[in-house]
Amino acid sequence: MTPRDLAGKRVMVTAGPTREPLDPVRFLSNPSSGKMGYALARAAEYRGADVTLISGPVHLPAPFNVHTVSVRTAREMAAAAFEHMASADIIIKTAAVADYRPKETSDHKIKKGEGDKILELERNADILMGIGQRKEGRILVGFAAETQNLRENALGKLERKNLDMIVGNIVGQPDSGFGSDTNRVSLFFRDGTREALEPMPKDAVANIILDRVAGLMT
Ligand code: PMT
Repeated sequence: MTPRDLAGKRVMVTAGPTREPLDPVRFLSNPSSGKMGYALARAAEYRGADVTLISGPVHLPAPFNVHTVSVRTAREMAAAAFEHMASADIIIKTAAVADYRPKETSDHKIKKGEGDKILELERNADILMGIGQRKEGRILVGFAAETQNLRENALGKLERKNLDMIVGNIVGQPDSGFGSDTNRVSLFFRDGTREALEPMPKDAVANIILDRVAGLMT
C-alpha cells in the first residue's frame, strides 16, 4: 500500500508542452503528451499532497482532486509557475518548455509567397532556472530530456539550475520519453549519487521519484 507520506505537503508539478504561436493557426511545439507530469501529479495526490498541476495543451483528463491550471505558451507557464511556487514545498518541472518563440506573431494567417521564408526566434526565459534562483527551502526537481551524453548534460543542469535532484530522461526512443507509456530514466543527486532505473511505466517512475523526494525531506 502506498504511504500517505506527502500529507500536509504542497506539490507543484508542470507538465506537457508549450505552444509558441506563429499566427492564429500555426505554432512551434514538441511531442510531450503530459503523461509523465500527470503521473507525478496523480501519485503525489494519492500520497496525500495538496497538488497544483500547471499543464500545457494535452489530451489527458485533469487528475482527480488536483488543482489544474491550463496554459499555452512558455510565458503563460512562467507566470503560472512563479505565482504558484510561493505556496509550494516541492516543485517538479516535467514540462517540455519551448526554448524559443517566434519573434513576431501575426494576427492573421500568414499567406504563402513564392520563395522560402526565414523565421526569427527569440529566447524564452528558463523557468526552472528562475525558480532555482529563489527556491529558498523548497525541494526542486528538474528533468533533462537528452538523446546523448545523459550524465554530463543532466549534471550540468542540476548545478546551473540549483536543483536537489534531476531526472535524466532518454528521449527519441519508442519505450522512453515523449508520448510513451513507459520511461527510462536515471536520477542524479547533489551528493554525486546516481540511480539508473529499469524501463518501467510512467506511474511507477513517478512513485520512485516521490520516494526519493520524501527521502530528501527527512
Ligand atoms: O509528456 P510525456 O510525453 O510523458 O514526456 C515526458 C517528457 C519527455 C517531456 C519528460 O519526461 C521530460 O523529460 N521533461 C523535460 C523536457 C525538457 O524540456 O527538458 P530540457 O532538458 O529541455 O529542460 C530541462 C529542465 O528545464 C526541465 O525541467 C524543463 O521543464 C526546464 N525548462 C526548460 C526550458 C525552459 N525555458 N524553462 C524550463 O523550466
